[in-house]
Amino acid sequence: MSDQPKSLSKSLPKSLKPRTLVAQALGAIDPETRAVALPVHVSTTYIRDPDNQYRSGYVYGRPDNATVRQTEAVIATLEGAREAMLFGSGMAAATSVVLALPPGARVLAPQVCYWGFRDWLINEAPLFGYHVDLVDMSDLPAVRAAIKPDTKLVWIETPGNPLWNITDIAGMAEIAHAAGAALAVDSTVATPIFTRPLALGADIVMHSATKYLNGHSDAIAGALASARDDALWARIRQVRGHHGAILGPFEAWLLLRGLRTLDIRVRAATESAALLASRLQRHPGVAAVLYPGLPSHPGHTIAAKQMSGYGGMLSIRVKDGEQAAISTAARVEVWKRATSLGGVESLIEHRASIEGPSSPCPTDLLRLSVGLEDAGDLYDDLDRALRAANA
Ligand SMILES: Cc1ncc(COP(=O)(O)O)c(C=O)c1O
Repeated sequence: MSDQPKSLSKSLPKSLKPRTLVAQALGAIDPETRAVALPVHVSTTYIRDPDNQYRSGYVYGRPDNATVRQTEAVIATLEGAREAMLFGSGMAAATSVVLALPPGARVLAPQVCYWGFRDWLINEAPLFGYHVDLVDMSDLPAVRAAIKPDTKLVWIETPGNPLWNITDIAGMAEIAHAAGAALAVDSTVATPIFTRPLALGADIVMHSATKYLNGHSDAIAGALASARDDALWARIRQVRGHHGAILGPFEAWLLLRGLRTLDIRVRAATESAALLASRLQRHPGVAAVLYPGLPSHPGHTIAAKQMSGYGGMLSIRVKDGEQAAISTAARVEVWKRATSLGGVESLIEHRASIEGPSSPCPTDLLRLSVGLEDAGDLYDDLDRALRAANA
């Protein structure tokens, strides 16, 4: 990477709390105008100096862009990373990690995780010559047994969609590194506010920045953050450049704006999610509540160890089964019936319907993404829908 370009003025010390750092986007101001809201750099190309050099640090918009870099700097700081890279989607970020591996490499991934990436790993990664093994990541002896000599990447997602399974990041880093593999963590749901995977030994952190990092359901984006500027990271940068997978400048700017309220948004959503989880546990229409903050959740002990908050995502299993679950989702008025997560508006989704027949998701499960509405309004709406659907 070239020297820090002029437009990336950074003034706040990294030792400040995340809430302070994000609120001011690291304290960046526009060096030309002293504006506190940064401009969007849309240019696809840059002037070469008369002596044939490129001194601004920029050459062309496919490998690099100043708005993208500013947003990357915020994410890298939040994750305690050496560098971050932004992509056109979470899927572009995740697949770029695999595509950066040597030909024929093997990837170990969770049996249950974000279905789109799982589907790509199973059905498309082999077309590029990669081998993929799936394992229950909560079973450390099974993970050890599943690692093979050519395993180059262990991929985990914690909390994992849609059961919110918790994976022990430090334990997994130990296993991966002992086998000479890198550990990548999809930390979309935890956010850097609640988990810092690199500090726990992970090599790469991935986010669907479409979710909490942006937080307003108005931009598709993906992020990677790396502990080191090593050969794998250099390969990922090449993949992003060659495949044209970089995030567009407008989306990077929206993401930078969304990030300013990240800390306050995820804390508010978590407070409501915890309240809903404990009230829904006692609801007559609910067979089970899956939320890592509940002591009944199988991952609770590890979550308490590696997360400083349990996040805004939970799932419920509806007592009367699949039709009652679909009918509950049909009857809500405040919750929005839609896929995705991590936005300001609360979303409800019958996951098995979107994941299709190959999904390991129970058919009575409703996934809840808790937004910023009043928690009492959210509970009352769901309570009404559950009672009507289970009547
Ligand atoms: C945990 C997780 N990882 C990755 C993705 C993929 O991200 P994107 O939709 O931004 O490509 C998603 C999307 O739902 C997700 O929930």
